[in-house]
Formats: sequence, structure tokens, C-alpha cells
Amino acid sequence: MDIFRIEGPVRLSGSVTVNGSKNASLPIMAAAILAGGKSVLKAVPHLSDISVFRKLLGQLGCKVTKNRKGDLCIDSTVIDNPVGDYEIVRKMRASICILGPLLARCGRAEVSMPGGCAIGDRPINIHLRGLRELGAQIHLKSGYIIAEAPNGLTGKDIFMGGPFGSTVLGTANVLMAATLAKGRTVIESAACEPEIADLANCLNKMGAKISGIGSPRLIIEGVRQLRPAEFEVIPDRIEAGTFMVAAAITAGELRLQNCRLDDMMAVVDRLRNVGVTVDADGDGCVVARSGSIRPADITTQPYPGFPTDLQAQFMALFSLAEGNSVIIEKIFPDRFMHVAELNRMAANLRKEGPTVIVAGVKKLIAAPVMASDLRASAALVLAGLAADGTTVVNRVYHIDRGYERIEERLNPAGAKITRESI
Ligand code: EPU
Repeated sequence: MDIFRIEGPVRLSGSVTVNGSKNASLPIMAAAILAGGKSVLKAVPHLSDISVFRKLLGQLGCKVTKNRKGDLCIDSTVIDNPVGDYEIVRKMRASICILGPLLARCGRAEVSMPGGCAIGDRPINIHLRGLRELGAQIHLKSGYIIAEAPNGLTGKDIFMGGPFGSTVLGTANVLMAATLAKGRTVIESAACEPEIADLANCLNKMGAKISGIGSPRLIIEGVRQLRPAEFEVIPDRIEAGTFMVAAAITAGELRLQNCRLDDMMAVVDRLRNVGVTVDADGDGCVVARSGSIRPADITTQPYPGFPTDLQAQFMALFSLAEGNSVIIEKIFPDRFMHVAELNRMAANLRKEGPTVIVAGVKKLIAAPVMASDLRASAALVLAGLAADGTTVVNRVYHIDRGYERIEERLNPAGAKITRESI
């Protein structure tokens, strides 16, 4: 198991390139199932979650390779085992997004029901409701979702809102299934996240007929079949946001290459609000801080609101603000495993239900801390960059799920992060 040793405090200065989006790549890899041929995906990041998904597609019968340029090639000519195995799904919940495409392509799918998760309760009732509306018969057997549509799926008007708003992977599942359904589907209260828009753009390139992309109302005219496509995934806005906080928390200056500010308006707004400058520059931006950090409030919301996937990182930043901030988590009300760990580093955080009151402190103090999930561990790395002393982050495999060799990318800009195997 790897750990990080982080020497702080440092002031970052330099440039870093943002990789392709993990959360766009995963459903787009699943979309390749629909095509029955060889799709070529560009800018898919090298992450452990992507490797797990490759394995999953391999078990279905797909051939997944890399070409000389490093593009991911998924040949889905043969799908002879439409089963999402427990051993893989338990490692990565996003595996659930093979359900819709398998059902549409094969008329049948068996996917292990995802279990508990470090960021809280994560039901899939809306995914299943949407697929049932399209005509699927679904039941649960030995922990597996068995979905059947031997005569194909049929388009329908479907409302997909839930108690916390839209669902990202639920929208992906139903959207993918609807591309091959007979007739027209309307998904109301669809997720508007850029990753879903990217998926829809990829599906259209494969021959789907989707309109309303990026809006809460997606309209899908079903087609008989899709063809393989070549597609480049968008930059990762969550990785970009994490690097922005790295510049901000270290009072440094980072140039981010390959970053779409258009997808990040809520994040940029909060950064500017606390005294960080963010200036567009070429295909990216420059993020810098010279003065103190002002306190601010954040409420996480579905896109275009502030993303839950950056809540932990901003909590680390606000820990050093001059005053009190309030963070309200409206997507995953229990996504606060980082609170106790940040407090071990002398932050002053008080959790009240889905709210954390962040009383700014003058400095963070290094400590051994435990990564609990991907974004929580990113927050601990960020805190370690700013803290006095040597922070040891355990269970770095969590961070490797979503950030490719983060230490090798931040160290040239002045970070002092070493990876050790213990
Ligand atoms: N929800 C339901 N029923 C459902 C589905 C979701 O009640 O059937 C609820 C969830 O419990 C949650 C809310 O709806 O309260 C939103 O969940 P959503 O379904 O949108 O989450 P997801 O699709 O499972 C994706 C990302 C997450 C990200 C969330 C929210 C991927 C692979 N995962 O998950 O990313 O936090 O959207 O934006 O795209 C991460 O990258 O670290 C990560 C956890």
C-alpha cells in the first residue's frame, strides 16, 4: 500500500496540464457497448478506475486495447456475457452505467447491485425506474439486478428528478438505453453536468438523435443501431478545480492547461469571492492568490451549482480563511469523512447535520491522516501542501482512482510530495 509524505508549507508556482475527465470517460466507455464495432476514445486518463472499467468491458466480451497514440480502443463487436460481476461493481459503483447500454444492446443484463459507499447512501432507484418506464422488466436475484427487454425498449416521457435533484449516472443509463428504443423518449429533470453533455455528444457522433443536450430536458429519437465513433473526452473539471485550490491554498500561482472555465463558473465564482484571481489564458487559465483568504459560503448542488466533488477541497481552503465559512452538502449529506482528518491537522470544523461550520485558523499543522475516499483524500493532500511539517496521507490508492500521479504533476511546481510503498 502506498502513502504520501508531504512537506509543507510550500508555495506552488508553475504549470500543470489537466487530464481528460474520469467521470465523462466512464459512461462514454459504456456507450461503446451500444455500437457493435471498434470505438476510439481520446484523452481517457490513466487511472485505476479506468483500468477497472476496462476489465469490466473485457468480461462482457469487448476487446479493449490502446493504440500507438495512447487512445483507448473498445471493440464491442461481440458481447457474449452481459453480466456486471460483483467483484468489479463492489470496487467501483460507476460500473452500474453498463446496465442501460447492455439492456438496449442485448435485451438482457445482470449487474451486481452496488453496495455501501464511503460518501453515504447511494441508491439507484431512479436508474431502475427510468429503465422500467422504457419497458424493461427488472427484478433482484442474489444481489444482482436482472433486467430484461426481449422485445426491445420503447420511448416514453420520463421524469427523473429525485430527493436530491437529478442523477448523473441515472441520466446516463436511461439516455443510453433510449438511443436504441422504439420512438421518442423525453427525459425531464435530466442531469445537466458537462460529463452528461459529453456523453450525449459522443452518442450523437455514433448516430444517436439527441437534442436538448446540456439542458434538463433531453429528447431522444430512437434509432435502429449505432455505429462506432472516434471521440475525445472533455478535460476534467474536478481535477482542474483541485489544482486551482492547490494554487490558492499555497498562496501560489499555477497555470492550468486544458481547462474549460465555461464548465466551472460556480467554482471560479467562489474562488474569486475569497480573494483568488482566475484569469482565462489560452486553452486554460492562471490561478493565483497574494492576499489573505476571505471566508465564504458554499452549497453543493447539481450542475451548474457548486459540485459536491470539490466540497472537501474547498473545505481545506476555507480552513485557512480569516473568519467563518459555512459549507452545506445538498447532494451527499454524509460526505464529510474528511472533517475529522482535517481537524487532526488543526483545522476548526464543526459538523451540524449536512452543514459544516469552518472557523478559519492561522495555520494547519501536519499530521498522519487517513484517506477515506477520492475527493476527501485530495483535500488532505491540499491541506498537507499548506500545513507546517510532514503530513503523511495513508491509503493513497483512493487518490489514484481519480488523479493520475498527482505527486509527479505538482512536484515540478514546487510541491514536495513523495510516494512510499509500505
Ligand atoms: N440518487 C437517488 N437515486 C438514484 C440515484 C441517485 O436518490 O437512483 C441520489 C444520490 O443518493 C445523491 C444524488 O441523487 O444524493 C445525486 O447522485 P448521482 O446519481 O448524481 O451520483 P452518481 O451518478 O452516482 C456521479 C459521480 C460522482 C459525483 C456525483 C454527483 C461518476 C462516475 N460519479 O455519481 O463522482 O459525486 O455524480 O455529482 O460520474 C467522484 O468522482 O468522486 C464521484 C463520487
